[in-house]
Amino acid sequence: MKKIFAVATFTAILLASCTPKTTTPTAATGPATSTAEQIAQGKTIFENSCGRCHKLPDPTSHNSVQWVGIMNSMAPKAKLTDEQHQWVYDYIVSVKK
Ligand code: HEC
Repeated sequence: MKKIFAVATFTAILLASCTPKTTTPTAATGPATSTAEQIAQGKTIFENSCGRCHKLPDPTSHNSVQWVGIMNSMAPKAKLTDEQHQWVYDYIVSVKK
């Protein structure tokens, strides 16, 4: 039962984040950074996609530079879109420290 609620909650988050927000300040200031929702999605994608072929990696086991290279080789394996690649990366580096 718990699982169903978790899925429902996630679906709600997904739906909410797909709704265009007119007030979102996009790329106007500096390089694009992921929002909290995108990082939350990155976490879910990471948990669902990155533990299929091997144990789910520990985000703190590599530094942010190493993760760029790892994600470049793993994102195609996990069939991530460019956006998902970015979100998963942003989630991973957000876990650090
Ligand atoms: C289709 C299978 C597959 C998927 C999906 C996959 N990996 Fe991997 N991963 C591998 C294989 C095979 C290796 C070991 C060989 C290699 O490094 O290419 C590996 C190795 C790794 C390593 C160790 C690399 C190192 O240098 O120590 C990390 C970390 C990693 N994967 C992270 C991820 C992350 C993050 C994702 C999700 C975006 C992911 N993997 C999805 C197959 C996969």
